[in-house]
Amino acid sequence: MSIADYMHRKPIADIVGGLETRTLAPSLGALSITALGIGCIIGAGIFVLTGTAAAQFAGPGIMLSFVLGGIACAFVGLCYAELAALIPVAGSTYTYTYATLGELVAWVIGWDLVLEYAMGAATVSVGWSGYIVSLLRNFGINIPPALAAAPGTVADKLADGTVVYGIVNLPAAFIVAVLTYMLVMGTRESARINNIMVAVKLVVVLAFILIGSAYVSSANWHPLVPENTGQFGHFGWSGILRGSAVVFFAFIGFDAVSTAAQEAKNPQRDMPIGILGSLAICTVLYIAVAAVLTGIVPYQELNVADPIARAVDVIGLTWFSVLIKIGALAGLTTVILVLLYGQSRIFFTIAGDGLLPPVFAQVHPVRKTPWKSQILIGSVVAIVAALTPIGILGEMVSIGTLFAFVLVCGAVIFLRKSDAAIARPFRTPGVPVVPVLGILFCLLLMVGLPWETWLRLIVWLLIGLVIYFTYGRYHSVLRHEGVPASLRREV
Ligand code: ALA
Repeated sequence: MSIADYMHRKPIADIVGGLETRTLAPSLGALSITALGIGCIIGAGIFVLTGTAAAQFAGPGIMLSFVLGGIACAFVGLCYAELAALIPVAGSTYTYTYATLGELVAWVIGWDLVLEYAMGAATVSVGWSGYIVSLLRNFGINIPPALAAAPGTVADKLADGTVVYGIVNLPAAFIVAVLTYMLVMGTRESARINNIMVAVKLVVVLAFILIGSAYVSSANWHPLVPENTGQFGHFGWSGILRGSAVVFFAFIGFDAVSTAAQEAKNPQRDMPIGILGSLAICTVLYIAVAAVLTGIVPYQELNVADPIARAVDVIGLTWFSVLIKIGALAGLTTVILVLLYGQSRIFFTIAGDGLLPPVFAQVHPVRKTPWKSQILIGSVVAIVAALTPIGILGEMVSIGTLFAFVLVCGAVIFLRKSDAAIARPFRTPGVPVVPVLGILFCLLLMVGLPWETWLRLIVWLLIGLVIYFTYGRYHSVLRHEGVPASLRREV
């Protein structure tokens, strides 16, 4: 078989035309879309990984890491906005790729998105675990550290110097189970609850910046870029790069805004404002949090499960530390919910195209939710969250998402040539320079990640290829019937 044989593309005009028959009311303005974005973005990245990445890789220079990550996301965000306004569907990267690079690449990207969504949910639940354990301790409830950490990781150090190792992270598995149950039962995050959660998160983050800045000791910022230890990625400029790749996780979620494109009142104006606006606000907040955090606590002490709360404890404001933990938990919960929800919807779309077994597209007759798929996803995510350290998870999510973003930028360039005439509600400015810069920045961040993480990505993608060549290609609806299945379903 030739490569061309796997280039079954969904005709973009058909996809766009099919979507026009949908009747979702265009009710979202730029402000709501920005709020939606911030709701999906602020999570474990800022509440946990900022501290661990500063301690292990970048020191106070983690502030610069956020600048680099923000620039990369801005280029990708501009490309996302074009595709989001053109093809406004859930699991969108998969659909964009199906329309541009064909079925095989679309499958690869759909499989890769599991890293962003399912593994992302696992990562954030480990962050949730760190904060709940810490909060319960404030109320005199002590969860044994070994039962709240992945096997082999340091869970605690006793006063006599004995190291306690983790056995299983039960709170992380617990929150995944609870949220999976809610999703199976059809509990939707209403726009109102989301807005409240966003407000709580923002208040907590802003309060940390404002109150914390009074306690910053600028001596903690020197040197801004600690000397490299001799190992790539451990401090020095390569450490800033690795720090960027790790805290890139903190920006993930702005792409979820793209799914709201069909409900935007004025996509041409509102989508870029929503995507870039939420990115810009988060970048500024992240840099400020990173500055205050590393200014209060020497970076060497930030390799803990709840770094922001730890900084507040150092200041000595116990009441504020409790508030931070509650806000962090609320914020982390919504992110896990959105990611678990998104994963089941992506599988739903892929199964509809025949590339995954039909069970992933089965909907509960009463609840109207893809319950079997949701339970399966929840079980796997809970097990992974219970057994894997947050550092490994976060890096996997970052590399998987960066890879997906490279293809998104590529898709913009490709579609401009292949489907030049189609009406684009929003046009990325400066094509091809902006998408090319997006690709280059994403590749740069990927280079910053350790080879083990690359190896895990390659193994993951190989498993995906095996599934495609043993199942997907034989069941592909497009290949057998010549009709894009998800299009037929939409109509
Ligand atoms: N950006 C999200 C977070 O930091 C995924 O939790």
